Amino acid sequence: MIKRIREYQKTLNVSGRYQRYLILLIFINAASMIFSLINPLVLKRLIDNVFSSSGDIDKNVGINILNYWLAVLVIVFAISAVATYLSQYISGKLSATISDDIRSDLFKEINLKRLAAIYKIKSGDIVSRIMNDVVLSQELISTYVVRLISGIMGLILPLVIMLTLKWDLALICIMPTIFYSVISWIYGNLLRDKQKRVLQATGNITSFLTESLSIMPLVKVFCLEDYQKGRFASVGSLYRDASIDMSKTIASYISISSLNFFVPIILLLWVGGRMTLEGTITIGTLVAFSTYVTQFFGPIRDLSNLWPNIKRSEAAFERLREIVDLDLENEIHNREGLVVTQGKIVVKDLAYSYNNEQIFDNFNVTFDRGLNFLIGDNGSGKSTLLHLISSIYKPHSGRIEIDGKDISEVNIKSLRKNISILLQNVQLIDATIYENISIGDLNAMEEEVIEAARLANAHEFIIKLPQGYHTQVGENGMKLSGGERQKIALARAALRKSRIMLLDEVTSSIDEKSKKSIYAALSNLSKDRTIIIATHELPQGIKGGIFDLNDLRVQPSQTATAHLAPSPGEFGPKRRE
Ligand SMILES: Nc1ncnc2c1ncn2[C@@H]1O[C@H](COP(=O)(O)OP(=O)(O)OP(=O)(O)O)[C@@H](O)[C@H]1O
Ligand SMILES: [Mg+2]
Repeated sequence: MIKRIREYQKTLNVSGRYQRYLILLIFINAASMIFSLINPLVLKRLIDNVFSSSGDIDKNVGINILNYWLAVLVIVFAISAVATYLSQYISGKLSATISDDIRSDLFKEINLKRLAAIYKIKSGDIVSRIMNDVVLSQELISTYVVRLISGIMGLILPLVIMLTLKWDLALICIMPTIFYSVISWIYGNLLRDKQKRVLQATGNITSFLTESLSIMPLVKVFCLEDYQKGRFASVGSLYRDASIDMSKTIASYISISSLNFFVPIILLLWVGGRMTLEGTITIGTLVAFSTYVTQFFGPIRDLSNLWPNIKRSEAAFERLREIVDLDLENEIHNREGLVVTQGKIVVKDLAYSYNNEQIFDNFNVTFDRGLNFLIGDNGSGKSTLLHLISSIYKPHSGRIEIDGKDISEVNIKSLRKNISILLQNVQLIDATIYENISIGDLNAMEEEVIEAARLANAHEFIIKLPQGYHTQVGENGMKLSGGERQKIALARAALRKSRIMLLDEVTSSIDEKSKKSIYAALSNLSKDRTIIIATHELPQGIKGGIFDLNDLRVQPSQTATAHLAPSPGEFGPKRRE
């Protein structure tokens, strides 16, 4: 358990942060436990000294003793009530704080992972892990440590008192503990697997819902309501079946552990009852024993429930661990930064495949400063190559050099600072147009943002909007047209002013008039930059190298620069002058 918590703390960087609260909670629980132990002692004194001996002592003295002990009881109850409030409040606060901290840590972690690694887990499932699994796993620290220590403390005192009162009776009464330990171990392992199934099914539902909401227009136009209903029913039923299965196991566990109190009380009455009749123990001792047995088995029940709960949290913890264990983007620290001088990109003997699909094998190409057009059929690998150059994907073999430096050996932040990339699927954040452009360079001045928007031919349409640059674009830019979204993404890439620009389908949704002006601006920018444009449509009258992936991939040993030929209009690894 402690080893597990240590591993957990190490993984999620939570060590030591909550010690103060944990110690306070343990202290409060210990205090309330000690106070609750006073009740049976008071009862024993009242029975043995006042009620059973009513004839022996004066009635007024008896009433005085009774009042005295009643006052003690009232104080004990009042203190217990305050302790309960504090314990509930602090443990609630602890749970919320730990959940929040783990979520922040996980979110920070995810942002540092390789893209290909993140894609191994569906986005909806990641959401579900961060929301649901975190709640379950934080209990390892917020609840179980306290319960473990309180449980052990809670059973020591009643046990010591029972042993002092009548040791042989005490040993008989605590015998069922062995049985409960075995049961909880068995159920712990069962529940861990069942909990994992439930969490996986919850992740599936979240993934399904995330996707369903994003494809609503598709559902409407293709009348897919019933189809979607069927798909939901199937993911829903997986969750339902897994939950029912777990409930069944919990129910049988609870029913077995309810014997927890029953068996020891039967044993007490059976053996202790005889002892009372034989006069070995007093009635007061029997009554006090019955309370201490209950007080001993309370923590025992807690401890035996703890194990299955720890196992359930472990299932959630393992799912969080899968996120933490994904490959980091830049594992090696203190790498040297990239300095771009010429902007020459050389791809040497590159091999890359998605799962079993080989995209590049012994692939060579060189891109020089200026405009470079990357063409080729759908699926020929244009986007993949741009992802590889920006080190979003890692080559399986071969290397990519920028000005002679292997990009896998340079500091990744410095590489990305020198590259602006416009992805084929334009991505906008749910914020204003201004923010969407300025995330290209968060330190940019307002004039620079506007200048970038002008370059992308976006300024004109932006200022016509009622709120201008402060217009909210909606979720993934849904309040803008496709071309407007593309212009904003281009403005963002231009704002970065990096020496290398990778533009994937920069003008596919852009009108002819804007296209001309955008290419003129890019041509101007390319004087001191290397710009690679993946496209299906070569612009008219614009100079630049043309690299056809259809040819390059089937003739892998050739390098594109070696085949440059001034024959405009024809596709192939040539340069258009
Ligand atoms: N994340 C991925 N997982 C598995 N296969 C992928 C993934 N991304 C792309 N592929 C596959 O890799 C191949 C190259 O894809 P890529 O996106 O690089 O092509 P492209 O030249 O950009 O095509 P397009 O002109 O349609 O944009 C395709 O056959 C595609 O199926
Ligand atoms: Mg593409």
